[in-house]
Amino acid sequence: MDPKESNHNKHSSDEKHKSKRSPPYALFNLLVIIVAIIYAVYYQLYLKDVENVEEVAGGEGESDQFKIPMFTSEQLKEYNGEGDNKKLYLGIMGEIFDVTRGEKHYGLGQPYHNYVGKDASKAFITGEFDAKNGKSNALDHVLSLSPSELVSLKKWRDFYIENYDFVGRLIGRFYEPDGTPTEYFWAIDRKIQFGLKQQEEEANFQREFPPCNMEYKREKGTRFWCTTQSGGVERELAGYPIQLFNQDAKTFSCICTEKENFELPQFRKYENCDDKIRSCFVPVDDQSNEDD
Ligand code: HEM
Repeated sequence: MDPKESNHNKHSSDEKHKSKRSPPYALFNLLVIIVAIIYAVYYQLYLKDVENVEEVAGGEGESDQFKIPMFTSEQLKEYNGEGDNKKLYLGIMGEIFDVTRGEKHYGLGQPYHNYVGKDASKAFITGEFDAKNGKSNALDHVLSLSPSELVSLKKWRDFYIENYDFVGRLIGRFYEPDGTPTEYFWAIDRKIQFGLKQQEEEANFQREFPPCNMEYKREKGTRFWCTTQSGGVERELAGYPIQLFNQDAKTFSCICTEKENFELPQFRKYENCDDKIRSCFVPVDDQSNEDD
């Protein structure tokens, strides 16, 4: 058989098939388009974020295209707005942000200029720059801060993530030259997790035993009272004022609780109370003995 002829025949029979099958093909094409649209929307909504997270975190599967720029402290210094380079970069916990947009805060002669061109993490908490002791390079050494101070520092870092562009990481205390976190990074991270847990426990405690309202009059003394909003904790039961002993500070503070808790060992009753208005009064003379 002539291959041309046979081809021709095949072709025309295909054509027939095609025209017969054209409605399902159209349906198939439509399906492909719908799937493509769904994928595009899904990518925009979810996958793009996942890629970005991997990029910022230096996660596995990170390709060269997504490599995080690494800076030495000398390179970071070039972005302090004092030389030809007009860009302002700020380091915090080893991460670097472009704060050029916030020039009115960070530019030359502006109140927060000291924070750019370096990682001055510690100064976010202490407000001090130690430069007078020649220790300015230790400003990113934050291990001596308390867990709750480190939580505050983390909030500052989150502030920069939210408000400015992340541009890279600083080689040194928090990151290795290849961008992986150092042991120091993890030590700080553990302390922050501890601080967050502590704060959560304190918040739970405050919900259970909210602080009293308090009014101090110099000549007379202090009045403590409970309402369903005292201490900024909204609740159904106002409770009654009682003194709570703080082991660490060796002081008493006023909290609100129900009478059934009054016998707990950490509490001490006030002497001068009016249950009807859920209020207690400590006259001036008694206040010197209050913290005994
Ligand atoms: C250690 C303490 C402090 C630190 C670390 C600190 C840090 C900062 C930083 C980094 C900014 C710029 C935020 C941005 O990029 O948008 C800022 C803004 C500001 N800070 Fe502070 N600050 C401190 C204490 C204070 C105090 C005590 C005051 C007031 C007496 C104050 C008043 C302000 C004001 C008003 C702004 C906003 C300025 C504006 O939007 O034009 N800061 N602070």
